[in-house]
Amino acid sequence: MSTHTRRKLTDAPFLVAATGGVPRRRPVWFMRQAGRSLPEYRELRAGIGMLESCFDPELLCEITMQPIRRHDVDAAILFSDIVVPLKAAGIDLDIVPGVGPVVANPVRTTADVRALPRLRAEEIGAVTDGIGLLLDELGEVPLIGFAGAPFTLASYLVEGGPSKNHERTKAMMLADPETWHQLLGVLTDITIETLRAQIGAGVDAIQLFDSWAGALTLAQYREFVLPHSERVFLETADAGIPRIHFGVGTGELLGAMGEAGADVVGVDWRVPLDTAVRRVGPGKALQGNLDPAVLFAGPAAIDSEVRRIAREADAALALGATGHIFNLGHGVLPNTDPAVITDTVALIHSLPSPL
Ligand code: CP3
Repeated sequence: MSTHTRRKLTDAPFLVAATGGVPRRRPVWFMRQAGRSLPEYRELRAGIGMLESCFDPELLCEITMQPIRRHDVDAAILFSDIVVPLKAAGIDLDIVPGVGPVVANPVRTTADVRALPRLRAEEIGAVTDGIGLLLDELGEVPLIGFAGAPFTLASYLVEGGPSKNHERTKAMMLADPETWHQLLGVLTDITIETLRAQIGAGVDAIQLFDSWAGALTLAQYREFVLPHSERVFLETADAGIPRIHFGVGTGELLGAMGEAGADVVGVDWRVPLDTAVRRVGPGKALQGNLDPAVLFAGPAAIDSEVRRIAREADAALALGATGHIFNLGHGVLPNTDPAVITDTVALIHSLPSPL
C-alpha cells in the first residue's frame, strides 16, 4: 500500500463542518461534480473507455481537478467508480455508456459467491497513484475518497447490471440468507480494502455510497445490510478522518444509517434536513440536499430552494446536528449547465455560515 503523510488542512470548511467545528463559509461540493456535465471532461474522455480512464493515474487526477478549477467547490471527489475495485479484483464487468455497470457473469448461487475473488491493495495501485498526484495539485482543497457499500455493489453483481426493482437481489436475500451474508461479507472485505488503500494514499475524507439501499424496508436493511456497513465504518475508524454515509430514497432508513457509524449522513431531497436530524439523531453532521433537478429551474427557483435548505440546515444544527455540508440530494445530472453549478456554489458561499 502506498502511504502519504496526511495533509493538515485545519481551516478547510468541508473538514471543519464534518468534524463539528464552525467553518468560515458554508462548505459545498456536488456528487458527480466530475463528469459529463463538463465539456472539458467530454473532450478529455473522447475515445477512452470509462474504466480505462479510472485506471490511468494522470487522467483520474486531471478529471478530478476539472470541477475544482471551475466551481470553487470546497472538496474534490476522486474520479473513479464504485465498480472499479470489483474490476481490479478480477470480476469481468464493464461500464457501458448510458447504461452503467454490466457484469458478464452475474452472481446467483452459493458456488458463484465462493468463487468471488478478494481484492489486494496493489490491484488498485493506479487509483492510489492518482491520489498521490492529486495531493500535489489540490493545494488546500480536501480530497474525498469513496467506495460502494456492500448492498449497492451486491445489487450490480446479482442483477448483472442496473436494476429498477432489485428483484434477484431481494430474492437471494430473502430465500437464501446464508449465501446473502457470505456475499455481503466478501463485498465488505473489498470495500474495506479499497477505503484503507485510499486512506493510506492520503485522502482527507471518505464517502460510502449505498445508493440503492432505499429499495429496502427498514427491517430488511437492519437484518441484511446494516451489520456489513457497520463493519466498514468500524474498520476505517482508526484513520481519524471524516466518514460520510449516503443513500437515495433512504428517508425511512436514516435512523439505522445513523447507527452504522459514520460522522456525516447524506440526505436526499425528499426529507428536509430539520426532519432528517430527528431521524439520524444528534451528534453527526448532515450533508445535502438540493434536488439535482432544481438546477434546471432557473435562478429564482434555485435561489429560493438553496435558501430554504440553508434555513432547514440551521434548524437541524439547533436540533443537535454538528455541521452542514451543502450538496445535492443525488449526483449532478449529465445535462446540467456547468455555469449554473458555478453560480449555485457562489450563492451558497454568499449565505451566512451556520453557527
Ligand atoms: O464526480 C464524482 O462524483 C466522482 C465520480 C463518480 C462516478 N461514479 C463517475 C462515473 C462517482 C462517485 C461514482 C459512483 C457511482 N457509480 C455510484 C454511486 C453514486 C450514485 O450516483 O448513486 C453508482 C451507483 C455508480 C454506478 C454507475 N456508474 C452508474 C449508475 C453510472 C452511470 C451510467 C450512465 O452512463 O448513465 C456509472 C458510470 C459513470 N460513473 C460515469 C461517470 C462520470 C458516466 C460514464 C461516462 O462518463 O462515460
